[in-house]
Amino acid sequence: MVEVKDARALDKMRKAGRIVGELLERLRETIAPGVTTAELDRLAGSIIQELGGQPAFKGYRGYPAYICTSINEEVVHGIPRDRVLKEGDIVGIDAGARVEGYYGDAAVTVAVGRVSEEARRLMEVTRQSLEEGIACVMPGRRLSDISHAVQTAVEKEGFSVVREFVGHGIGTRLHEPPQIPNYGPAGTGPVLKAGMVLAIEPMVNAGGMEVEILDDGWTAVTKDRLLSAHFEHTVAVTEHGPEILTLCQKKKP
Ligand code: MF3
Ligand code: CO
Repeated sequence: MVEVKDARALDKMRKAGRIVGELLERLRETIAPGVTTAELDRLAGSIIQELGGQPAFKGYRGYPAYICTSINEEVVHGIPRDRVLKEGDIVGIDAGARVEGYYGDAAVTVAVGRVSEEARRLMEVTRQSLEEGIACVMPGRRLSDISHAVQTAVEKEGFSVVREFVGHGIGTRLHEPPQIPNYGPAGTGPVLKAGMVLAIEPMVNAGGMEVEILDDGWTAVTKDRLLSAHFEHTVAVTEHGPEILTLCQKKKP
């Protein structure tokens, strides 16, 4: 069963989402050649606290950090460490926060300085596939319409969709039903209803779809060691369509 949130719950999820949106924006501004992922993690911890949230990932199934930082061939769940980001890398930042018992979850992939044309295109196609998935978030549509839209956007550009990890419902738990694969036929699964909240998160590989887990027990990498990108938003179904909860709402000076 996919839970339908009431107005009170949705308000709390907006607060959590806004924190994650601002957190990712501030981390994005910090990313540059010479910065380590451990520094990004420390900054994330202090920003979550400053914004009045609680960490969502730290301690989740024993995960040791505030954010996930996945570089180049790393797909998701990279653990921040003393590795220095260098010009030409791409780095996925996945972040979560909890506010008043409700979760927000989002991810972006960011270029470190100048990157290859292939890397730029991979990031853009992945971001666009998330957008196509979000466009299916309408009452009356079926869940797998999202999956199908993401897959179509990715494969028409010659990239491949990771199968081992999926998007998910989200609320008072980081992961709730339903699972949201980034592939499959349209027109199946639960009918979307206003009040459902979904974390949609395409993971897209430049080469083959296969992944493996490193010996740290967390980091997923592409089997062929080619690049991978990841974008995610927490999205509420409303009567009028999608409401993206994890946008950065802070005005730029
Ligand atoms: N966006 C990721 C997910 O939904 C966040 C979980 S990372 C973990 O799986 F480290 F907390 F597990
Ligand atoms: Co997620």
